[in-house]
Amino acid sequence: HEEFTKVKNIATIELGKYEIETWYFSPFPPEYNDCVKLFFCEFCLNFMKRKEQLQRHMRKCDLKHPPGDEIYRSGTLSMFEVDGKKNKVYAQNLCYLAKLFLDHKTLYYDVDLFLFYVLCECDDRGCHMVGYFSKEKHSEEAYNLACILTLPPYQRKGYGKFLIAFSYELSKKEGKVGTPERPLSDLGLLSYRGYWTRVLLDILKKHKGNISIKELSDMTAIKAEDILSTLQSLELIQYRKGQHVICADPKVLDRHLKAAGRGGLDVDVSKLIWTPYK
Ligand code: COA
Ligand code: NA
Repeated sequence: HEEFTKVKNIATIELGKYEIETWYFSPFPPEYNDCVKLFFCEFCLNFMKRKEQLQRHMRKCDLKHPPGDEIYRSGTLSMFEVDGKKNKVYAQNLCYLAKLFLDHKTLYYDVDLFLFYVLCECDDRGCHMVGYFSKEKHSEEAYNLACILTLPPYQRKGYGKFLIAFSYELSKKEGKVGTPERPLSDLGLLSYRGYWTRVLLDILKKHKGNISIKELSDMTAIKAEDILSTLQSLELIQYRKGQHVICADPKVLDRHLKAAGRGGLDVDVSKLIWTPYK
């Protein structure tokens, strides 16, 4: 693709109360080629070349949260499900914005085929986007997440692991196992490894007796291959008589759990009101 050879065009964006430095090239329409800064409406995600345009826009724009259905609310956190077909312009704007922080994904075509899960911190001024993930409406490869982003001002606070946990809660409701689309970025892989390690080792710690990878997969909706690679990288798998055996010495588990970092924010499943896309 042409965009791989292009250099970063937009250097900063304004979004809500934040000015954010961008990381990568994003293929904004040609009329934005001469811009180094873009001004986003934090609610509808329309973007403009000049601050005055944004100020004029903010007086007219009556959105105070992402379009679509609020499917989760707990405390000040809300999750909105946006159908890329029903809210095409919003979805395209979100993809332009996200590409500024994603290296290798070509994510801005065919938004019709995707659902977007937009996480917000809400206050009396509205619901402010923290991050999102996208998900194919129908995935042949059992992907339960296509792209994931936490906006830079919100990174390293546990939102990434929250978004990952959320994607698995949706898979559980679908009665399916899931896996993120590849390739993962370095930060994406770190976040997934942290999430998988914590979830799996928490179960192994509490569980009495033997447990199989299949059983772990059924409990967590994590794909068997991802469970195996996680446990292998922690050296918790032995291969005996043609079978993978999980070794779960409590002291070793505790050591790995400590190294896996903080747990992130928890998804309160009782606050998730959602039925799978048909
Ligand atoms: N340096 C080192 N480790 C980091 C890191 C950094 N800058 N950012 C995240 N991690 C690791 C840590 O292990 C962290 O856990 P810890 O804070 O408990 O140690 C774990 O990843 C997840 O942190 P969390 O706060 O839950 O994630 P986040 O909100 O920062 O979001 C991403 C993680 C991947 C969504 C975010 O980095 C991002 O949006 N990156 C740009 C887009 C991207 O690469 N997406 C993935 C494409 S497949
Ligand atoms: Na990821």
